[in-house]
Amino acid sequence: MRRWDKIIRLIVTETGFSRKGGALACDGVALRAVAAAENTPLYVYSAAAISARYRAIADAFASYPHSIHYALKANSTLAIARLLRSLGAGADANSGGEIDVALRAGFIPTEIVFTGVGKTSAELAQAIDLGVMTINAESTGEIERIDALARARETRARVALRVNPDIDARSHPHISTGLKTNKFGVPIGAVVEICRQFAAAPGVEIVGLHIHVGSQITDLEPLRQASEAIVTLARQLRDAGVPIDHVDLGGGLGISYDGTPVPSARDYADALLPAVRGSGLKLVLEPGRNVIAPAGVLLSRVIDVKEQPGGRLFVILDAGMTELMRPMLYSAYHRIEHVDAVERPETVCDIVGPLCESSDTLGTDRPLARPEVGDLMAVRDTGAYGAVMASNYNRRLMPAEVLVDDGRWSVIRRRQTIDDLLALET
Ligand code: LLP
Repeated sequence: MRRWDKIIRLIVTETGFSRKGGALACDGVALRAVAAAENTPLYVYSAAAISARYRAIADAFASYPHSIHYALKANSTLAIARLLRSLGAGADANSGGEIDVALRAGFIPTEIVFTGVGKTSAELAQAIDLGVMTINAESTGEIERIDALARARETRARVALRVNPDIDARSHPHISTGLKTNKFGVPIGAVVEICRQFAAAPGVEIVGLHIHVGSQITDLEPLRQASEAIVTLARQLRDAGVPIDHVDLGGGLGISYDGTPVPSARDYADALLPAVRGSGLKLVLEPGRNVIAPAGVLLSRVIDVKEQPGGRLFVILDAGMTELMRPMLYSAYHRIEHVDAVERPETVCDIVGPLCESSDTLGTDRPLARPEVGDLMAVRDTGAYGAVMASNYNRRLMPAEVLVDDGRWSVIRRRQTIDDLLALET
């Protein structure tokens, strides 16, 4: 009965964050109550929203042989990684640490792709010893290192070559990766020669091509062009005898941070699939943000409200750049809302953090019911690249994280204590 209840609720109600009697709730759980129990700053995630978003991508690609490797870099808290695995995802790990997290979350090595622009020999050895699905190699130097490490182990590593197609993802320059002026991959024009060079290398087998042109992409044209370019190249290589069995089209699908319409998972599939259909190549995807960004909020309390000369009204929160770097690093916009329904006159304010930096600003010129000390605020769409990019600057402690699942919530990462922080020091 409970199971059916859950299924019906998932079908008939929108999952994630919505207003219940005016107050913000996560799948029916009042955020006010969670913050009262666990304090702020606090990340809260919806398991139902994560599942629904993952399934939307899986369903959109269901007509073609594919595997989805969730990009752990977006959010790798163990419970989140376990949840994605339970939904059928593989993992995209970007460091030895993320490989360890993937293994502890239950992923088996052949479900893990290992990416990253600067993998150390120790990390490569770890990946080879484990026998990960593929290592996405970024340079000829890296392939040589993989070859040497694999030969020493009398094995052969499966490698996909990261291709730089010189395509502009039309996203923020800090998160665009597909231009020839970026540090990522090998130039598309050099790929045939590199495959020839390593054809007889005993320690590596080039079995795939990999591409990732950027993140928060909301114009599908660059992704369509990139998939066409890589599939054309893969076909060419196969004709030349290179045993290419898959193309990995990376991640990158954006979300709407401000409410403007963005492509759906189905639009995304419609942009990518025509290129691969009929090629016989398996498709690998590495989505991160699209799966989890809208499924998380950062809860924070107002510590102070002050008006500075010149008329700027500053609302100072107990969360700032230590909890959420995106606004400062990429001028990223995140909706900031009252959690409770407050009826006060609207005012325009700057929402800032408590750190000793003027860049510690979460939102400028925001119209809000005039915030007061003690108010609980939600910074929306922070499930991806939020908690994972947190820091201890100013000796601030890492926030706690909560997962709401099936009407109940639990702490999936406790708040760091000063003893945790100082345990590493003499
Ligand atoms: N695959 C590779 C090789 C990547 O480099 C990335 C992201 C992904 C997959 C996942 O991309 P997604 O689907 O999440 O767009 N910190 C930035 C985003 C950096 C993305 C880095 N690479 C932000 O907060 O916007």
